[in-house]
Amino acid sequence: MSRWMIEKRGVKHIALMSRRTLVQLEQPSNPQYDDWLKLKRTAKQYNAHVDVVQADVTNFQQVHDLIERFQKTSYPICGIIHSAVVAEDRTLGNLTQEHLSLVLSTKFRAAWYLHQATQLLHAPIHFFIMFSSIRNHLLEVASAGYNAGNQFLDALAHYRFEKLNLRALSISLPAVSGAGMFHRHKEMLSTLKVTQGFELMPTVTIFEIIKCFHQTQRICPCPVIFAVNWQILHRNYPTLATSYLRKVVHQRYKEMKFDHISSSGKNNSTKSSMNKKETIIERTQSAVARLLGAASVDRSLVSQGMDSLAPVSLYNWLGLETGIYIPLVDLLQGLSIETIATIIYNKLNEKEQTTSSAIKEYDSDFDLINENEVQL
Ligand SMILES: NC(=O)c1ccc[n+]([C@@H]2O[C@H](COP(=O)([O-])OP(=O)(O)OC[C@H]3O[C@@H](n4cnc5c(N)ncnc54)[C@H](OP(=O)(O)O)[C@@H]3O)[C@@H](O)[C@H]2O)c1
Repeated sequence: MSRWMIEKRGVKHIALMSRRTLVQLEQPSNPQYDDWLKLKRTAKQYNAHVDVVQADVTNFQQVHDLIERFQKTSYPICGIIHSAVVAEDRTLGNLTQEHLSLVLSTKFRAAWYLHQATQLLHAPIHFFIMFSSIRNHLLEVASAGYNAGNQFLDALAHYRFEKLNLRALSISLPAVSGAGMFHRHKEMLSTLKVTQGFELMPTVTIFEIIKCFHQTQRICPCPVIFAVNWQILHRNYPTLATSYLRKVVHQRYKEMKFDHISSSGKNNSTKSSMNKKETIIERTQSAVARLLGAASVDRSLVSQGMDSLAPVSLYNWLGLETGIYIPLVDLLQGLSIETIATIIYNKLNEKEQTTSSAIKEYDSDFDLINENEVQL
């Protein structure tokens, strides 16, 4: 995020809090070593300064002293991004007091101290962003501590906003590709992606969306960001923890055109027309034209000016229109309309073949039963 802020938002000074020292960050054994090297290069290229400040964000005195120290410079802290986390899932049977307080305090104690210290020191805060997670909206037995911590962030955002009229955003993030804990621990992704249908979202897309939420935080202090295969999520309806998400999933599922395709004669013709590659190209092209202006079929969409937000709309449109979800990270590579259409065409054909072989199997089973009945 620091890199994006420097490159895209022109930020010149960042104070990066970590329990580790600069010397420790510089060790190749540091799991975030590559990210750190990239950040150093970006800072140098854009003439920006990144101060690594060793401080434990769950220690009020250290947080207070750090903010106070910057108050005395010509670069006082003017925005907070609280992204500290200790991610360690445990089922209730394995939960200890020590483990719970480590996971919880990195979320809620830290957020509260950042809030209190900036208030006490009258820091000129323009943004106060906290990162929560989509996992809060799902029933996951091992993430109780993590979810409770995130829940507090939402409460704090409401409190700051409603009671104190202060800026605040608690943003529920999906699994992010390109950086962060899910990127380092791909095994953590399996539940979210395979069983729940959530997409890995690229960092740049997330940051662009955060920028939009920053501008509209008065309307929505606790937004949830995700891209999902609604078909899979709908299948997991009972595992959705919040009634709000359940309502959205239900609504979306009802809107999905492909849901009705198989059940109505009228829509069967839509299906067969969508099965024609030219039709797919034509419809994808007009959707892309709506998003990006005129689009040529065989050139990469990135080379035609697609930014990091348009793929999210395209992802949704394709999913709702065809039932095929092309991973966001692939769309961001800048596939051409022709390639997208080919992927969709092939996947629709695959689906159709699977369905027709299932029907054939059913028919032959049925014939067998009938034969047996006759013999009886
Ligand atoms: N990455 C994702 O896909 C994803 C998805 C959903 C939500 N989120 C949320 O997004 C935020 C950022 O996640 P991430 O993936 O960037 O995590 P990350 O790569 O694991 O980074 C977390 C950072 O927190 C710091 N930290 C932990 N305890 C601290 C403490 N007591 N004092 C100071 N720093 C502390 C760690 O630095 P040191 O070890 O050096 O102290 C570490 O660099 C988290 O709130 C997470 O819940 C992330």
